[in-house]
Amino acid sequence: MSQPKRAPGGFPVVGVVGGGQLARMMQSPAVGLGIQLSVLAESELAAAALVVPSSPVGEHTDLDTVLAFARQCDVVTFDHEHVPQEVLEALEANGVAIHPTRSALRFAQDKLAMRERLSGLDIACPRWQRARTAAEVTAFGDEVGWPIIAKTPRGGYDGKGVTVARSADDLAEWLALVGQPGALEDGLLLEEKVAFTRELAVLIARSPSGQAAAWPVVETVQTDGICTEVLAPAPHLDPTLASVATAAALRIAGELDVTGVLAVEMFEVRAEDGSPAYVVNELAMRPHNSGHWSIDGAVTGQFEQHLRAVLDLPLGDPRPRSPWTVMANVLGGDYEELYPAYRHIMARDPGAKVHVYGKGVRPGRKIGHVNVSSTDLVDARERARHAADYLRGVITE
Ligand SMILES: Nc1ncnc2c1ncn2[C@@H]1O[C@H](COP(=O)(O)OP(=O)(O)OP(=O)(O)O)[C@@H](O)[C@H]1O
Ligand SMILES: [Mg+2]
Repeated sequence: MSQPKRAPGGFPVVGVVGGGQLARMMQSPAVGLGIQLSVLAESELAAAALVVPSSPVGEHTDLDTVLAFARQCDVVTFDHEHVPQEVLEALEANGVAIHPTRSALRFAQDKLAMRERLSGLDIACPRWQRARTAAEVTAFGDEVGWPIIAKTPRGGYDGKGVTVARSADDLAEWLALVGQPGALEDGLLLEEKVAFTRELAVLIARSPSGQAAAWPVVETVQTDGICTEVLAPAPHLDPTLASVATAAALRIAGELDVTGVLAVEMFEVRAEDGSPAYVVNELAMRPHNSGHWSIDGAVTGQFEQHLRAVLDLPLGDPRPRSPWTVMANVLGGDYEELYPAYRHIMARDPGAKVHVYGKGVRPGRKIGHVNVSSTDLVDARERARHAADYLRGVITE
């Protein structure tokens, strides 16, 4: 593997396993900070490989490949959660500094492990259970009420691996895989279907020496299981809920010893007395879609903060730069060509910030996002939505 070039001045090399859009978006702040990135990419055309000069191609599941890559870096972090525990263990055994660590990452890789750990910490979660048989599914549904939500513990993303079940029959295909090596070995995660008022996310960063910084709580809007919009901060959020939700995320980070950016996805619910409350949906230990707004909307964006955190540098100021920032995801639509739309959206709205990931267009795939900051939420939302829809090709005016 060729060596990443080091800049003079003692600057470190941060290795990122996985070459998706998250690794790609670390490059811009890395350039500013003078930090060299090196990316272990899935292919030469991976989103990050297109912009990071040192992007060896290799499998994140192959120990020798990951170890050879890691030896050229001062610290290693991740674009996704899919590096196997055995590989992480071997990296640590070989003295590689990885952030987040293997033991923390487990709770972002495995939703059953996450539920067990958070319940043990008395963090509010939906009612949940592990199930291996149709009888267990039926008993759980009868107890919490149908329909229920079923999840594959590992490997899900963008709503894949999440399904609504009205009976155990709806889960027949998954139940058939239970116990099979490499499939649903440990069973399924069942959850009550939470009657949430909306979805929130708390994003924080924590460094190995324990410094932490929190961005304001945001509202996330999902369409068909995919995040399509983020409102920062979450409009009309009860200040008490904002502070208890943030305190919960900071506590989770401390207890699990998370390093780097941690996203805690939450549901806002009404407590029995009618007051607003939260339950935790899931954890991500890396920059997260709910934090893309911060690139343009906060003093320190999540990608810069993640680099600072994994290097154990003092963290940057997470405060917003504007009363409102709205992020709208650009999902792949029918048009392959994105660039022709630039002239229109840039002319219409010089304040809109477009971020494109260099990925081929496939229907429903996240290919970019637009950030708009404003003193008026309705204005920011309309402008971000318009630019994203125009790029996607769902509107032409
Ligand atoms: N217990 C639940 N009750 C109600 N809705 C739920 C529940 N769990 C998940 N959902 C819905 O499904 C979406 C996806 O679930 P989840 O975040 O667990 O899956 P994922 O595929 O890992 O998502 P991501 O894209 O964040 O990686 C949630 O954002 C929410 O809209
Ligand atoms: Mg999720």
